Amino acid sequence: MKTTINTLAKMKQDGQKIAMLTCYDASFASLLDDAGVDVLLVGDSLGNVIQGRGSTLPVTMEQMLYHTEIVARGAKQALVIADMPFASFQLSPAQAYENAARLMAAGAEMVKLEGGMVMAETVDFLVQRGIPVCQHIGFQPQSVNAYGGYKVQGKSDTEAEVLKRDALALQAAGAAIVLMEMVPATVAKAVTESLAIPTIGIGAGVDTDGQVLVLYDMLGVFPGKKARFVKNFMLGATSIQGAVEAYVKAVKGSAFPAEEHTF
Ligand code: KIV
Ligand code: NA
Repeated sequence: MKTTINTLAKMKQDGQKIAMLTCYDASFASLLDDAGVDVLLVGDSLGNVIQGRGSTLPVTMEQMLYHTEIVARGAKQALVIADMPFASFQLSPAQAYENAARLMAAGAEMVKLEGGMVMAETVDFLVQRGIPVCQHIGFQPQSVNAYGGYKVQGKSDTEAEVLKRDALALQAAGAAIVLMEMVPATVAKAVTESLAIPTIGIGAGVDTDGQVLVLYDMLGVFPGKKARFVKNFMLGATSIQGAVEAYVKAVKGSAFPAEEHTF
């Protein structure tokens, strides 16, 4: 059965974990779909893992459109979310709508934007016009220069309060999912419990409603330095399909992430 925005809402209600992975092409989309991955994210991490760049900032709308189209072609059951690249949505709700609409026309079923409460107006604008939104808070890779590096977000009490406030504001604005990156597990848990909509975590502990990893990280393909929250599921697997199935099983059974992957 096709996974929809309603399936994900119901999974949260039923306490079933959501397994999400990034995906950049049709063959992997088909494989991930067969392995039971619920959501495929056409992440702008393709700037890092496909293009070999140092950040996601140079990724363009044209590139995101191309990868969204080819992923959507390979996905049958899984829901397809496309990242809105740097500078494609920050200017105004109208700019965001124009670019989100292009991604939806290319085959995305939801778009993902980075940013906290400052993006609430834009989220509302998109959702009111029929475009579901996954909002990415905590560490936001497109803001790496503003952070001055790869830093865990929400560590101090003040930062944690801002994160909680942002999550609630984004839910009120109509976001379908809140995704948290590199956030202390206790904070991600509190946010998850305070929201009716599902949360997805990456480096946010085991208590979010679902997990996401970059495909090339969890298959051990990416040559760069591994973040603490990454696990290579090819270790112990005999095939890529097996590794992805092991990931899905580990997410569904709350065996991943473990303490060692958590802040
Ligand atoms: O682009 C990406 O891969 C992402 C995930 C890390 C959530 O945004
Ligand atoms: Na991204």
